[in-house]
Amino acid sequence: MHVKKIVVLGTGGTIAGLATDANDSRQYVAAQQSVLDLLAGLPIPPGCELLSEQVAQIDSKDLDLSVWRALLQRCVHWLAQPEVQGLVITHGTDTLEETAFLLQALLAPRKPLVLTCAMRPANAPDADGPQNLRDALALAATAGAQGVLVVCAGRILGAQDVQKVHSTRLDAFSAGEAGEIGQVRQGQVERWRDWPQPRVPGEMLLERLLTAPTLPRVEILLSHAAACGATVDALVDPAVAARYGAPPLRGLVLAGTGGGTVHHALEAALRRAQAAGVRVLRSTRCVDGFLQPRASDEFAVAAGLSPVKARLALMLELLNG
Ligand code: SIN
Repeated sequence: MHVKKIVVLGTGGTIAGLATDANDSRQYVAAQQSVLDLLAGLPIPPGCELLSEQVAQIDSKDLDLSVWRALLQRCVHWLAQPEVQGLVITHGTDTLEETAFLLQALLAPRKPLVLTCAMRPANAPDADGPQNLRDALALAATAGAQGVLVVCAGRILGAQDVQKVHSTRLDAFSAGEAGEIGQVRQGQVERWRDWPQPRVPGEMLLERLLTAPTLPRVEILLSHAAACGATVDALVDPAVAARYGAPPLRGLVLAGTGGGTVHHALEAALRRAQAAGVRVLRSTRCVDGFLQPRASDEFAVAAGLSPVKARLALMLELLNG
């Protein structure tokens, strides 16, 4: 029989975390167990062989460009192997949606690339990581599955829509109004919506991301009551950037109120930033709902993207020149 390979790439997170006292899973250190430890004793999907690699070992709050580069390189390598049916990435929950978005934007694979995670450390008596990893393996082994997907608490969410919406619940992710793609129940994948669509990979953009000395600097700014424009002016000021050894600001994503509206004091400062050559993109601080571009818009709209994803989209756009 033809054996399909599933490659599991470990990057750390709570799924690989250990609590000092196994009975108190609130106090733990993320990224302690190897990906091999996580796979030990898990059933292998029928007709499959598992391979694994430790790509990083971090708390995903500290994720940086070097980890994304390493991960992208290993994904590109393994996805190109004909005998590889799918990939699984174990990842921290905190920035999982950013990695998922970036992988889909750059790779849009024809094979399933499944990110999974956990909200409780590996040595908690009620750890959720093993079941999430089992579900991710089942999804990666599913014929016809494709695109960058997230599996958590039995739900399958697409990279474009997934967002962490709860700080403690096991079912910590939502796909908002787009809804989930399906679920994994007792090892069986049930699908309700289309898989993320494959694309011819943007090889030039990928190459630029892999080789650029830094990513274009894009910051996120939140609009709120009693705001003032000083933060924007400080962000745009090259002298401030130089003091911190940061590259000059290239873009600003506004997490606006409601429909992407902005406090008038910020608006004036954003206009100054835009006039100084900084790209300004409007999104919303609301978790659900889509922004509608309007004819009178002064600032471009990040339709359907959360502020962190709008930031990545703008970085890629700037990188693409
Ligand atoms: C992390 O994001 O690496 C730590 C938190 C988590 O995985 O839930």
